[in-house]
Amino acid sequence: MGGETIPKTQAFAPNRAAILLPPFSAAPARHHAMQIGHIPLPNGLFAAPMAGVTDRPFRQLCKRLGAGYAVSEMVTSRKDLWKSLKTSRRANHDGEVAPIAVQIAGTDAQMMGEAAAYNIDRGAQIIDINMGCPAKKVCNKWAGSALMQDEPLALAIIEAVVAACAPRRVPVTLKMRTGWCEAERNAVRIARAAEGAGIAMVAVHGRTREQGYKGVAEYDTVSAVKAALSIPVVANGDIDTPEKARDVLALTGADAIMIGRAAQGRPWIFREIRHFLETGQHLPAPEVVQAKSWLLEHLHDHYGLYGWDDDGAGVRSARKHIGWAVRALPGGEAFRARMNLLESCEMQVRAVTDWFDELADKHRRLPRSAVPEAQDTEQEEAFA
Ligand SMILES: Cc1cc2nc3c(=O)[nH]c(=O)nc-3n(C[C@H](O)[C@H](O)[C@H](O)COP(=O)(O)O)c2cc1C
Repeated sequence: MGGETIPKTQAFAPNRAAILLPPFSAAPARHHAMQIGHIPLPNGLFAAPMAGVTDRPFRQLCKRLGAGYAVSEMVTSRKDLWKSLKTSRRANHDGEVAPIAVQIAGTDAQMMGEAAAYNIDRGAQIIDINMGCPAKKVCNKWAGSALMQDEPLALAIIEAVVAACAPRRVPVTLKMRTGWCEAERNAVRIARAAEGAGIAMVAVHGRTREQGYKGVAEYDTVSAVKAALSIPVVANGDIDTPEKARDVLALTGADAIMIGRAAQGRPWIFREIRHFLETGQHLPAPEVVQAKSWLLEHLHDHYGLYGWDDDGAGVRSARKHIGWAVRALPGGEAFRARMNLLESCEMQVRAVTDWFDELADKHRRLPRSAVPEAQDTEQEEAFA
């Protein structure tokens, strides 16, 4: 512990939470090891569930680079979709590092209980309920979310899922927003009821459902949830630097933090944060050859899951990961445009290798500017 003095200014956009932050002159905060139910985790740095992003290869990479926990993309509770290629890929946990956590989404209590059991049979060791999802296409019912708006239904779902999981000794967690809308921030009420019903951990994204991804996340509601519960609480929303991680932990008293968009193309953010929380010092940026090898490893794993076929799912879905990895690097945008035209996995691998080799001729480490300027909100209408 120890090291450099921590600046008193806050590193993130001014908002209500930032104004309330105490000055940091003391030693850096330590993050604590924690448990979900009876399952221990190596640390409190979590990769947030992101549909279309946090598939098994990406989760593996995040865990290898410092995340203590990573939740799957959401799996629908609709049985008729379980056999679809998309859902069976999401329920594939071959070789995944424990604990395997699967998020389920739906609006019918019985179906959600059955979905929990189905995923446990396929390897899930923790079940996470997406409270706020339903993308219309997934649940076929409500246009956009609403579980937080219907507290009795929310509780019925929680009870059904806990009832399905408890006999199998599988903890159930809940991911939610601060509320449905500005006037109805009911996170504390729902979280209390959830704890009473046997939920083992709650993650709170500091925005209302109505906000989508607009504005900035507030952490006062996360603090209030933390103060109201005895189970672990996880703070989520807009955490994108080690300083911000430290500040959000200090402000909210949360047991862990969850990072989504800032890990896109930059999965080593977890070890950067871990190092900073432990020492108060910044890790140097990764070496270019190291970043190249992580990306290539990710791509091989990705093609292994989605297929190596020309113009197939593998080559198409890898594009976004490559794009995120290069977007803030010098010449990254031009490379992304060229790379998007390549139609085979082999061509992608060759292009990525050559591009990073050229970058390595000019820079030993990723240039400091390699911090994504824009966070991806393309699915903002669909998700909690
Ligand atoms: C592309 C994308 C997909 C997402 N998919 C899910 C999902 O399947 N389940 C969920 O609970 N949240 C989902 N989210 C929300 C994130 O888990 C997280 O709460 C949100 O991005 C805020 O965290 P961040 O600011 O660190 O990104 C998604 C977010 C994004 C950007």
